[in-house]
Amino acid sequence: PSADHYQLMEWATRYFQNQLKTAPQAIDYLKGRGLTGEIVKQFAIGYAPGGWDGLRQTLVRSAATEAQLIELGMLIGRDGGGSYDRFRDRIMFPIRDRRGRVIGFGGRVLGDGTPKYLNSPETPIFHKGKELFGLYQVKERHRTPARILIVEGYMDVVALAQFGVDYAVASLGTSTTADHMHLLFRTTSEVVCCYDGDNAGREAAWRALENALPGLQDGKDLRFVFLPQEHDPDSFIREYGRGAFEQKLDDAQSYADFLFERLTRDLNLSGEAGQNELANKAIALIRRVPEGFNRESLLTKLSVQLRWGENEKRLREIFHR
Ligand code: CTP
Ligand code: MN
Ligand code: MN
Ligand code: MN
Ligand code: MN
Repeated sequence: PSADHYQLMEWATRYFQNQLKTAPQAIDYLKGRGLTGEIVKQFAIGYAPGGWDGLRQTLVRSAATEAQLIELGMLIGRDGGGSYDRFRDRIMFPIRDRRGRVIGFGGRVLGDGTPKYLNSPETPIFHKGKELFGLYQVKERHRTPARILIVEGYMDVVALAQFGVDYAVASLGTSTTADHMHLLFRTTSEVVCCYDGDNAGREAAWRALENALPGLQDGKDLRFVFLPQEHDPDSFIREYGRGAFEQKLDDAQSYADFLFERLTRDLNLSGEAGQNELANKAIALIRRVPEGFNRESLLTKLSVQLRWGENEKRLREIFHR
């Protein structure tokens, strides 16, 4: 009887965990990143050895399982037949679905090689834009988490958890999608985005905001943490500690402030041209927010920005045109 997809992924996870035990260079790498054995175990982090067929030799028992492992992205099929391991000499992060089943992997090189991370391709059970690394672990710990943090990387999620910030998830090498936002707002009422402090991270924050707008039903809140340029959540919490990190969360910027700060960045609002441009851009975004308190308060804030305070009605007329 052939094992199902999930069973094979579970076996692959165990294989990588076993390989880690006998790979001192991989253990040293993880220690060098400051990870404890306990957290490595908790996230079932493993190691894919350097050969071309370690996983293949261990898991392939028939032509059918080989075909399945190719379908699952664990093996790469050769043109003339046969196959070889996709992940070689990499630290392996298993990605679980909401039921805890392993559906894919992210694999990090031990040094400076490229690509830094190799992820499972799209497969019948793995859909990158829909899954979040760490969500299963968050929900294991918190039935209804008060807030969920969304970060960029696997290492960010794992390091934060090690420091007790056990409510972070990461998108999988894609920007945060509308599907991700919907999924998170089904689980919590407050999402905090905390991307890397570099420019890419700031752009990722803006895209996340755009994608989140349709999910901002009443009672849902979205905030943003901006880290110093050279930091990501992993490096920040290691350098400054949990208290400083959670202080950042408490001081996070509201989505409305981020939205207007960004839209007004290069505009001169004392002139009509600047005001019209702000009105047009803001209205296009605000239309994506569901009717209700969140939308109304954005409109009020827009009228303040436009210095149209005393005729907010005019703004609402434009909005509903
Ligand atoms: N990523 C990816 N492929 C790459 C680079 C990045 O899929 N070639 C994804 C990974 O999920 C990674 C995330 O984007 O975790 C963030 O990238 P980056 O900030 O460069 O990596 P870190 O997570 O900070 O990794 P590390 O600390 O190990 O360098
Ligand atoms: Mn907790
Ligand atoms: Mn980055
Ligand atoms: Mn990092
Ligand atoms: Mn990073």
